Amino acid sequence: KSDNYVHIVEVGPRDGLQNEKRAIPLATKIELIERLAKTGLPTIEAGSFVAPKWVPQMNNSAEILQHVLQHKISSPVPISYAFLVPNTKGLANAAAILQQHADRYVADVAEARAAAEAAAADGDSAAQPSSFVPAIELAVFAAATESFSQKNLNCDIATSLDRFRDVIREAKQITSKAAAASGTPIPLRVRAYISTVLGCPFEGPDVDPKRVAEIATDFMEMGADEIALGDTTGMGTAPRTKDLLRSMTAAGIRNEDVALHFHDTYGQALVNTAVGLEHGIRTFDSSVGGLGGCPYSPGATGNVATENMVYFLESLGMDTGVDLDAVADIGAWITGEIGKANDSSVGKAVLGA
Ligand code: HMG
Ligand code: MG
Repeated sequence: KSDNYVHIVEVGPRDGLQNEKRAIPLATKIELIERLAKTGLPTIEAGSFVAPKWVPQMNNSAEILQHVLQHKISSPVPISYAFLVPNTKGLANAAAILQQHADRYVADVAEARAAAEAAAADGDSAAQPSSFVPAIELAVFAAATESFSQKNLNCDIATSLDRFRDVIREAKQITSKAAAASGTPIPLRVRAYISTVLGCPFEGPDVDPKRVAEIATDFMEMGADEIALGDTTGMGTAPRTKDLLRSMTAAGIRNEDVALHFHDTYGQALVNTAVGLEHGIRTFDSSVGGLGGCPYSPGATGNVATENMVYFLESLGMDTGVDLDAVADIGAWITGEIGKANDSSVGKAVLGA
């Protein structure tokens, strides 16, 4: 069963909300994360340790990290929580919280893994492979085009990669009180995004796939655990997605180390997802209610909606472990909460709205 498993990374609480002008209360963000956790989604991108004067909406990410570490959030599968870190300052802010407050999360993960291993030994087939290790994910983010790098990170690509080398090295060295006492390390992974891989808001659709593969190779050499390829503008098409994935494979990047992150501005996200699946990719990002957009990508709309992604994957006989009706309810609730239209066609259809 697990051969057909597709890992969905829910990015709504971060990518979905970061662009909202009106401050969303911390309690709403936490309610969103806790509700998503109950649906079977295995990874939730929950916040961003970026400069508040650049992206004020993500200002309370420290409280969110602390919350997910300290509270036993009820969920059918153990959950990975991801947070963006743009530089060593953001990493230091996240590390301070991880060092102080990770004990409970570390213990919960150890317990969940033991249960998954026991279930696998008993021959119980869970959707999620028992090799999956839930973790706190710290996500760095570079761009494939110089103009977007300047707008998003205020530096060129080469400078950003130099900075991320330090961020990744330091991220791998984070240890907690729990580790000091019991030797159990914090489960940590580094996700490395590359934005504008299929189009740039300032340079257009022609982005060199070989350049993307080079940056991905640099990230893997720095110790990244996963490369997330971002179609920031949604300009990606099926043929160019195929070329990009072929370039990645030609550069020696393994499919299991790649995630695809499609914005749906041109409605091509699921077509491009099909191309990714055919190529052998099994991790896809999406956002409940189709929320989102990037503050530095004018005109780009949200990520492909999680409801649409789940419906599509399940229709192909893939297994996501995600409760579509529950996600549809959350999409209707959160879009109402922040005063936006529900952008998920599947969500609206499921709810009869
Ligand atoms: P900068 O202005 O060059 O940084 O920004 P700086 O080092 O000169 O610092 C300026 C001020 O920010 C200083 O404060 C720093 O202390 C503070 P001041 O002295 O003026 O009071 N500062 C910070 N504060 C808190 N946390 C930090 C931090 N860093 C500096 N981490 C910087 C450079 C990278 C910080 C800035 O450009 C930035 O934060 N950029 C992030 C932009 C962003 O979040 N974009 C959206 C996420 S990426 C995305 O959406 C794409 C993705 O979804 C994939 C896809 O779709 O393609 C991932
Ligand atoms: Mg994005």
